[in-house]
Amino acid sequence: MEATTIEIPSVRCVVMQQPLYAPIDRDHLINRALAEFGTTIFAEMSALAIATNSINLGQGFPDTDGPEVIKAAASRAIADGHNQYPPGRGIAALREAVAQHQARFYGIELDPEEEVLITAGATEAVTAAIIGLCEPGDEVLLFEPYYDSYVAAIAIAGARRVTVALRPPNWSFDIEEIRRVITPRSRVLLLNSPHNPTGKVFSREELAAIAEFAIAHNLIVITDEVYEHLSLTAEHLPISRFPGMSERTLTVSSAGKTFSFTGWKIGWASGPRPLVNATLAAKQFLTYVNGAPFQVAIAEALTLPDSYFSQLRLQMLSQRDLLGAGLRRLDFEVLLGQGTYFLNIDLSSRQDSDGLSFCRELPGLAGVVAIPTAVFFDSKEIGRSLVRFAFCKRPAVIEEALRRLRIAFGEATVSSPIV
Ligand SMILES: Cc1ncc(COP(=O)(O)O)c(C=O)c1O
Repeated sequence: MEATTIEIPSVRCVVMQQPLYAPIDRDHLINRALAEFGTTIFAEMSALAIATNSINLGQGFPDTDGPEVIKAAASRAIADGHNQYPPGRGIAALREAVAQHQARFYGIELDPEEEVLITAGATEAVTAAIIGLCEPGDEVLLFEPYYDSYVAAIAIAGARRVTVALRPPNWSFDIEEIRRVITPRSRVLLLNSPHNPTGKVFSREELAAIAEFAIAHNLIVITDEVYEHLSLTAEHLPISRFPGMSERTLTVSSAGKTFSFTGWKIGWASGPRPLVNATLAAKQFLTYVNGAPFQVAIAEALTLPDSYFSQLRLQMLSQRDLLGAGLRRLDFEVLLGQGTYFLNIDLSSRQDSDGLSFCRELPGLAGVVAIPTAVFFDSKEIGRSLVRFAFCKRPAVIEEALRRLRIAFGEATVSSPIV
């Protein structure tokens, strides 16, 4: 290291020409595996929503809270002292409640001690499962479009993602395409039904074909079923119920969508011991545990009567139909889907057929925010003309969004009935 000596009357100081340590290059701090995920479209669109005072039909969270009795249960749990680390696998009452829920709705028998794991939302369950089950270079097969956290989790694990497209308008897929991409490194098939962002609910025939394929190629299936109670017009069928699947399936769900408490981040993974243990191996070093009082409250929520679950479904169905019918009246081609919080419109027959530019202009034009569906695809071209709208908002909010869209786009004369 070079030094320069500067003479100042009565003071002699040495000025170092180079700092002692290499400076941080702030532009290149991010792990290259994560660099492609940069700033999400959700951040951009939410900022636009605020700047333009728009109605945000972009992000999928409900604008009303879940049941008051469950909020009261969480408050009581805090008052009663459930405020320290819960057990690593989650509090016993919640693991028991998850096991009973799976038995009550699907006839799935689980040992709550070893076959249920409580996580920080479904996001952590999927991430920990992928990290726990995949070694660098292993391949994870998933359908595109996909929920964005999946591909980040695969990257964090050093695994490789291999996608197979669901194609609009029916979001069908070709099992031959999956057959073509399978390799000796294929380890996990990641499924999501009901599916975000399409609203697709996989049919019995589709699930049977996937199950048969997973068995034939000895794949582990991770299935994200967070919208299980928002299967609006089709039956939700857990893939773990299909012959030969229970021993190779890790089922993930969470309280966020089912009880409209997305901010509580209480989720779970259930399935055979080796898969739960692999998930726990990673989970214990991610969050270790979370949300003790909320775990207590969700244990109670899972015992709500059937009427709660059917009411939630009917409410969401009527909101889907309200938004879908309103968009059709504006002459948009609407792809309704059978579940979740989301529907899509297809702009391909319009002049402005690019979903991304449509979404960037929409807040300024109409005071409404939506998400370009292409962001959920690797094959951007398939989703280029699609735009996703969330309908998990109060009917009055959906009505107001439609009123704004009517002003911006004008009412079309022909309206097609909802089917
Ligand atoms: C398919 C899917 N999985 C997981 C999540 C996140 O679930 P959680 O909030 O329980 O982590 C979402 C939220 O939008 C989702 O759409």
